[in-house]
Amino acid sequence: AETHHHEFEVQEIEARRLCRNHRIVAVNGQFPGPTLEVRNGDSVVVKVTNVAPYNVTIHWYFMHGLRQLRNPWADGPEYVTQCPIRPGGSYTYRFTITDQEGTLWWHAHSQWLRATVYGALVIRPKLGSSYPFPKPKLEFPVILGEWWDRKVISVQRQALFSGAAPNISDAITINGQPGDLFRCSSQGDRVLLRVINAALNQQLFFSVANHKLIVVATDALYTKQFTTNVIMLGPGQTTDVLLTADQQPGRYYMAARAYESARNAPFDNTTATAILEYKSTTSQPILPQLPAYNDTNTVTAFSNQIKSLGKVTVPTKIDENLFITVGLGFFNCTPGPRCQGPNNTRFGASMNNVSFVLPRRVSLLQAYTQKIPNIYTTDFPPVPPVKFDYTGNVPRGLWQPVKGTKLYNLKFGSSVQIVLQDTSIFSTDDHPVHLHGYHFYVVGQGFDNFNPSRDTANFNLVDPPQRNTIDVPVGGWAAIRFIADNPGTTCETGVWFMHCHIDAHLAWGFGMAFIVENGVGEAETLLPPPFDLPQC
Ligand code: C2O
Repeated sequence: AETHHHEFEVQEIEARRLCRNHRIVAVNGQFPGPTLEVRNGDSVVVKVTNVAPYNVTIHWYFMHGLRQLRNPWADGPEYVTQCPIRPGGSYTYRFTITDQEGTLWWHAHSQWLRATVYGALVIRPKLGSSYPFPKPKLEFPVILGEWWDRKVISVQRQALFSGAAPNISDAITINGQPGDLFRCSSQGDRVLLRVINAALNQQLFFSVANHKLIVVATDALYTKQFTTNVIMLGPGQTTDVLLTADQQPGRYYMAARAYESARNAPFDNTTATAILEYKSTTSQPILPQLPAYNDTNTVTAFSNQIKSLGKVTVPTKIDENLFITVGLGFFNCTPGPRCQGPNNTRFGASMNNVSFVLPRRVSLLQAYTQKIPNIYTTDFPPVPPVKFDYTGNVPRGLWQPVKGTKLYNLKFGSSVQIVLQDTSIFSTDDHPVHLHGYHFYVVGQGFDNFNPSRDTANFNLVDPPQRNTIDVPVGGWAAIRFIADNPGTTCETGVWFMHCHIDAHLAWGFGMAFIVENGVGEAETLLPPPFDLPQC
């Protein structure tokens, strides 16, 4: 195994999009940022220096879904595992890639800067081993995103403080462009597209004209192969697809467009394109057929096809059984510019009715390891505070979240089941719920109320997909299982964030965190904080 050293400079750059120049925050002058290419088992050291001119709290990125053995200090969500890096400051992230192959990505985890601060992380098989599918001739990241004409910080402020529906993006992008970047391939070439949804708030369909896509991995774990015309990704998710350039030599669009299961508010309905071009052809490119924006049937059929490849070990004895309602709600407010929601309210979001508040003095991980009192409580409710019925009237108690920094203790090694149930109080998007530090099995998902006796019997314990982000369907539920440990010989203790990867929902409080306690004494197993850990 190798160690890869990188330096990232976070800075403001000029970027021209949609016929105008903009100043955006980017890494090493590139947007999207650099692609890191590693092999399974390698280590990565990235020194990040922040030279962006913001005295707004931070700019940061983190490694997505990477299991960080004994080193939660490298995870990166601001105020969860570290304080922000100030302008002029720097911090070095160190982590090892363990048992993952495929595609992940990195992004800022501070305010909404990840709108432009992101890049791909390509994980190839260990030296001497190979892909569980025929070797592609070409491969490249296809990063789907959203472009904002306004500064993202002001877009974030509007979403947080106006109480009105968040502004929508001005264009969907592929590799940072609304359209027409192109790549070359020859007829017959097998191409591996590593598709990443880096959008702030938008679920996206992706398709390539005239070409079938063979799904081979999601969130950096291989899947059984299946063929599809279109894939759907929630923000945070990745999907690796193979295609064979077996059509007439020509130019074919790959395209991305919104999926909005039940949208009552406006959304960005632009189509982003990039051209897949066979060598030496100039014909008019052909657009793929993308599903209608609200085609939930296609999405459900697609996600039901995703199955793990190879050996799975789904926990069957459950130590911790959590039932968590997730969704949007409303806070009461005094009429005014910051209170534009229905009936003198503004938006909130919650898990089991707790709207998550980040600490500002120290990160949660520092508070936990250094036993600093009054930063958080550990009374996150494992079940909703009031009985929940999706099909009936949602009780008032689930409309008005209470604010808190509530964490939940898990014993190291315990097996955990979490049913995430959408409240559908305000039906908008699915909720791509991301758990830091772990992969989990998606053992079931469905619509309406989760029914324990009926639905548990139908769980897939044979070949469920393993992911780090699960798209909880609007008006439905998803059930996940994982073991609160890490494969290998070391323990994973620490504080791990779980949140909706739609930034608007996260900003409104859709998050919580787990403390994974080591039964033996965390001091022996957890690495001490790095000397350069930023202070708040
Ligand atoms: Cu990619 Cu905490 O998120």
